Amino acid sequence: MERIQKVIANYGYCSRRRAEELLVSGKVKVNGQVITKLGFKVGTKDVIEVEGHILEQEEKEYVLLNKPRGVITTTSDDKNRKTVVDLIPSNKRLYPVGRLDYDTTGLLILTNDGELANLLMHPKYKIEKIYVAKIKGILSVASIKMLEKGILIDGVKTSKAKVKVRRIDKKNNTSIVELTIHEGKNHQVKKMFSAVGHEVLKLKRENLAFLTLAGLKSGEYRNLNKKEVKKLYNEVLNRK
Ligand code: URA
Repeated sequence: MERIQKVIANYGYCSRRRAEELLVSGKVKVNGQVITKLGFKVGTKDVIEVEGHILEQEEKEYVLLNKPRGVITTTSDDKNRKTVVDLIPSNKRLYPVGRLDYDTTGLLILTNDGELANLLMHPKYKIEKIYVAKIKGILSVASIKMLEKGILIDGVKTSKAKVKVRRIDKKNNTSIVELTIHEGKNHQVKKMFSAVGHEVLKLKRENLAFLTLAGLKSGEYRNLNKKEVKKLYNEVLNRK
């Protein structure tokens, strides 16, 4: 038996937090009865209905997208902007694992496997992400140390990071910097650079755990194979 909000999220219907909202607003039925209690336990034989949809286990799909600029990381947008889901023709309810900003490019996983999505997004599992930023100016040694040790953003200290300056363009006063982090706070990379006085001009995520963008041009995607999915599960489960 599992807590109902976890089961709804694992079906890939929505996040666990959204499932809790749906529960308290009376949008969830179990075996035909409205259930509003968070943490209500359900088993494999129970029929769960959310907002009128009966949840059925669909085959899991895992997609690795090289997100282009100018695409929003959600499943739908009220301003009618193109979403990452629009780029991937699939008959499944895929949703993005984490978020890349509208103007950020690079590696994004989309899946209907809510369990893996939640594990990958949970800070406790410390999944490593490598971002490459083009920033205004040149980082001082002191700024590099501050970024690496942890820096206050929105009143909370970031955890340890790795910084590698890849290139410096003195003429245009810009630098290309690689930043390795394992958290996923909102606009984290931009805020970290901003905290040491540098504006991010361009941002790309190049790696997530062992995954890279090899072979994928901007806007292209591919399915993860079984080995890669297993390896992703191992990455998190070995860190428990
Ligand atoms: N950090 C940011 O600032 N933006 C992103 O899109 C991802 C990480």
